[in-house]
Parts: sequence; C-alpha cells; structure tokens
Amino acid sequence: MADEVPKTTTPGVDHTRPNAARMYDYHLGGNANFQVDRDAVERGRAILPDATYYMQQNRAVLMRMVRYLVQDAGIDQFLDLGSGIPTRGNVHEVAHLHDPRARVAYVDFEPIAVAHARRILADTEAPVTITQADIREPDVVLNAPGVAGLLDFDRPIAVLAVGILPFLTDDADAADLMARYRRATAPGSYGAVTHISPLTWTWEQVTEALRILAETATPEVARTPEQIRALLPGYELVEPGLVPAARWRPEHEVSEQDALRSNCYAAVGRHD
Ligand SMILES: C[S@@+](CC[C@H](N)C(=O)[O-])C[C@H]1O[C@@H](n2cnc3c(N)ncnc32)[C@H](O)[C@@H]1O
Repeated sequence: MADEVPKTTTPGVDHTRPNAARMYDYHLGGNANFQVDRDAVERGRAILPDATYYMQQNRAVLMRMVRYLVQDAGIDQFLDLGSGIPTRGNVHEVAHLHDPRARVAYVDFEPIAVAHARRILADTEAPVTITQADIREPDVVLNAPGVAGLLDFDRPIAVLAVGILPFLTDDADAADLMARYRRATAPGSYGAVTHISPLTWTWEQVTEALRILAETATPEVARTPEQIRALLPGYELVEPGLVPAARWRPEHEVSEQDALRSNCYAAVGRHD
C-alpha cells in the first residue's frame, strides 16, 4: 500500500513508531499509514480478534450520532475533538446531507490527520475548519481561530469525543476536561462519547493489546460502563442511554453477539 502523504512533506511526523491515528486509518481501509502502523495493527489483531470490527462500529456510530444530532436534535454546529484522518463518512459530510449550513470545527494533534483534512477542505466553500491542537489544552482549542472564528458559542454546539477519551488515561482528568468543554457551550448543547470497553474480549486481552499502543506517543486505556458514564458529567443522556455502540440507534436489527463484539460503548447527552 502506498504511503499517500510523502514522508518528507508533512512536518512533525514520526515514522519510526506506530501512531494511533494512522493505525485507525489502516483498520478502516485508508492509505494514510506506514508499515510500522500496519505491523502494529496486525500484532493487535492477533490478540484481539474483531479489532477492526470495533473500529468500524466506532466509525458507524459516529455517523449515526451526527445524523441524530442534526436531524432530530436540530444541531448545526460541531466541535469534533480528535477528528482523525478523514475517511468515509466524515462529520461534515454526514451533517451536510441534512443541513448544508452546518459548521464543523475539527481538532486533532496528529500531523497527517491535519494535512489530509486541510487537503480535503481546501476545495470546499463549506463552513468547516481543521485546527492542529492538543485537546487537553481547552483554552488553546476554544480560542483557536478555526474554533472561535467558526462556532457561535451562544448557540447550541455538539462536542464530539468519539474514540478519543481512551487516550486520556486518567479518569478524573478526562471527566474534568469534558466538563470544561461542556461549560463553554450554551444550554441545549450536546456531548457525544464512544469508548473501548471489553464485552467479548477479556480485560487481560485488552491490556495486552493496549501494550502495543504504549509504543506510540498516545497510550490508551479501556474503561467500564460506569467509568465511561462519568465522562459525560452534567449531561442527561438521550435514549437509548449508554449502550454497546452497535445498539445506539441502529439502522438495522443487531444481534446480541454483534452488539457485544463491538467492545465499545456509545452515548449522547444534552445539557440545559
Ligand atoms: C481513534 S481516532 C478517532 C477519530 C474519529 N473521532 C472517529 O472516531 O472516527 C483518535 C484520534 O484522536 C487523536 N488524538 C489523540 N489524543 C489527542 C489529543 N490529546 N489531542 C488531539 N487529538 C488527539 C489522534 O491523533 C486520532 O486522530
């Protein structure tokens, strides 16, 4: 597979260690990844069968959440924390199917994710930005031109923390950060979360697989449903609450086995 972004043109890229954003891209069938990322994914798959299914379900529920937020909740502004390398079903694409005026502020700190997003957005007139920033610095994120200059914080915003909170390894820090972003948003705003949580995998398997991510600049943790619920402080969950990702407002009937096999929980909450 070709390394689509030439190694010499994207500053700040570490080619020597696997990278979570590029590994996720490989799982989803993208080509913005290097051999070191693909090797790490293969080692992970040997420990966690269904690792790719987990990633696919995470992405699929993100798309359903965005559709719900635009169509049913009337949201037209998104702050997408840890937006990742653009792939099929990006937040602005899904949002614009239902509301072409929807504003989307993407934030990621991974140089390849940001370079790809810039390339895609260069040709669009749509109100969509990408900001390279560390989401653990909320003041930097919230004041960045791509965020403060695009989103109207006096009106409801959906804060998306999809597939990113496992990278915030301390429970209290992660909850405090989510509370900080919630306080920045107007009443009627939403928060959306997905998070790895062993359902068909054992904790031992997950711990072993996450050791591979310890080689990256971004180690990850898995959490229990109770720990995940605590990452939406001050939000009242909308139906169906915190559930296995495949069970969050599915488009088709989902078998119990498939629901569990996602090994991922999802929830959306609203604050008033
Ligand atoms: C698994 S991907 C999820 C992408 C997308 N949200 C989705 O669910 O399809 C996680 C992304 O979070 C980014 N990330 C991890 N820690 C971050 C941080 N502290 N600040 C900004 N981005 C971060 C990674 O670079 C990666 O692109």
